[in-house]
Order: sequence, then structure tokens, then C-alpha cells
Amino acid sequence: MKEKINVFDYAEQLNKALPQGILLNTSGDKFNTMVIGWGQLGTLWNLPTYTVYVRQSRYTKPQLDKTKEFTISAPVSGKLDREVFRICGTQSGRDVDKEKAANLTLVAADEIQTPGIKEYPLTLECRVLYQQDQAPDSIPEEIRQRFYRNGTDEGDFHTAYIGQIVSAYIISED
Ligand SMILES: Cc1cc2nc3c(=O)[nH]c(=O)nc-3n(C[C@H](O)[C@H](O)[C@H](O)COP(=O)(O)O)c2cc1C
Repeated sequence: MKEKINVFDYAEQLNKALPQGILLNTSGDKFNTMVIGWGQLGTLWNLPTYTVYVRQSRYTKPQLDKTKEFTISAPVSGKLDREVFRICGTQSGRDVDKEKAANLTLVAADEIQTPGIKEYPLTLECRVLYQQDQAPDSIPEEIRQRFYRNGTDEGDFHTAYIGQIVSAYIISED
């Protein structure tokens, strides 16, 4: 079952869960999920939005580019299970089916094709409203050195995807 919510009533829960990791789910070639630690709940063009930042090397990126939609799954309180955090925060959908590896139960969405996750019930369904690649020259040098160092695995930049929240709810047990 799904209990519809006003997403802004859950801003505190989302913002507190985010730095510890929440899940960004995509579909397209297959279901995939990855841990994110950066994002914003907000408003753009008078619409409720959730913005995510996806490094260009992630398997998640072509999925988003193809479907232009995603779901966000977060715990209502507490944080992700350790194994879920490890698998979804370090392994790529190119190599593993994270749904199986992390033992996640998918729940069909109402408005889009990308499911939510029963174990992380605070769910936002989002359609991409706008996306933008980071402009490297606009990033402060200190931040570039820290997050985008050439020649490392994490040398590539992020794309921001601003998703219009088209449905928000809490998945309950029955
Ligand atoms: C706490 C935490 C936060 C993360 N935040 C982000 C993020 O905001 N954006 C991003 O691109 N990767 C982030 N990552 C890294 C991805 O979760 C990780 O590279 C993942 O394996 C990518 O999966 P994919 O290749 O299936 O898309 C984070 C990882 C952790 C552990």
C-alpha cells in the first residue's frame, strides 16, 4: 500500500537521510539503483522538484538519458542497511543486478515506469524536467582538486538532473 504525502512535510527526513546515502533508481535497459549523497528538494518553474548529480561514468547516466525519469527511495528514519550501502554505493549496474545482490523488493510506481523499493519506503517519482552538465570552468579550483582530479577513477564531472516530483508516498507493509 502507498500513503500519499506532501513531499515538503518530509523535507527534514530526506535532508537528514541524504548525507548518509539514499537510493536513486532508474530503469531503461534494466532496473538499477545507486547510492547518492548529494541532492536537493526544491521548486522550479512552480513545480516541486528533486535534483540529483550523477557522474558521467555511472551506469545510471545512460539509463536516465534514455528514460528521463527516476525514483528516489529513502528510509523514513535511520539509514541504509550496511550491505545495501556497500553494494549500491560501490558496484555498477554494468557488472551486477543490484536488485538481486542487495535483496531489494521492487514496488511498481504509479506515474512512471521506474519502481520504488519496499525496504526504503519514502518514495518520490520524478520526471526529468531539465538536465545540465557541469561547466568545469565554473567549479572552484579547490573543489575541482578534491572531487575531479584528472587521472583518477573519479576524474569525470557530474550531470545535474532536475526531476519534477509527479508522485510522493510512503510504501507500507500491506
Ligand atoms: C555515500 C555515497 C554517496 C554517493 N553519492 C553519489 C552521488 O551523489 N552521485 C554520484 O554520481 N555517485 C555517488 N556515489 C557513488 C555511486 O553510488 C557508485 O559509484 C555506484 O556504484 C554507481 O552505480 P552505477 O554504475 O550502477 O550507476 C555515492 C556513493 C556513496 C557510498
